[in-house]
Amino acid sequence: MPAKLIDGKKLAEELVSGIKKKAKLMKEQPGLAFVMVGNNPASEVYVGKKERMCKEAGFYSKVVKLPGDVSQDKLLQAVEALNQDPKIHGFIVQLPLPKHISESLILETILPYKDADGFSPVNLGFLFISRNRIIPATPKGVMKLIHSTGVDIEGKHAVILGRSNIVGKPVAQLLLQENATVTICHSKTQNIEEITRQADILVAAIGNPRFVKKEMVKKGAIVIDVGTTKVMDKLMGDVYFEEVKEVAGYLTPVPGGVGPMTVACLLENTLECMELQKKMGV
Ligand code: GUN
Repeated sequence: MPAKLIDGKKLAEELVSGIKKKAKLMKEQPGLAFVMVGNNPASEVYVGKKERMCKEAGFYSKVVKLPGDVSQDKLLQAVEALNQDPKIHGFIVQLPLPKHISESLILETILPYKDADGFSPVNLGFLFISRNRIIPATPKGVMKLIHSTGVDIEGKHAVILGRSNIVGKPVAQLLLQENATVTICHSKTQNIEEITRQADILVAAIGNPRFVKKEMVKKGAIVIDVGTTKVMDKLMGDVYFEEVKEVAGYLTPVPGGVGPMTVACLLENTLECMELQKKMGV
């Protein structure tokens, strides 16, 4: 039997509709800002989607665009300005950044309670010790997609392809918190197919189109495709969808799977930032 599709678009719409209701009840309009450096076409598309979703949910949004050759100091100043801006409750700096800028320094400068992406070392540290604060948006979306299947995660073997700080590592941590047995594979992993074939839950986040073939997937597995690579103007995931749908139990499409969930979770994180700020009296 072919895999059941996990409809990320529908799930995201439901999430955004709940966020919209919550936002309406708040004393202040939630504000989310996006910092973009340079003219990365993919970033422009992502930020455009995020802005549209802000409008849909009744958020105030703002884009801070800086040229690709902006100095690190100028970018730090822009981050500081958003840290202090009372209309902005959460913001993100769209990655990747140009090579002359230290990504980690920028992420360290974002106030943890305004860190809508959950990329600051403070929020990642809280995740590491299972005291979750702001959870990175894509990993949060991945977990919601897995939960939507109704399959119990506890005791399952979860295999993650990719070890990035923004997807692979946080997803591993979240699955571990729900008592999965977790394996992270990366570019130096040997016999990767043998490992992926053991996965009850397989999360692919490597940015390598159609890397996961049918032979690599256990029958009935939950397969979450985080990959989004543009190939001849078409968005392509890390999973060979047409093949894998014949063996997987559940599968996310690209587009319409993880992408919309990331955006919805970013809005949810902004509301959580507002709650943290209220608690802290800032
Ligand atoms: N680049 C690719 N994905 C993301 C994301 O979720 N947040 C940011 N800030 N940059 C990204």
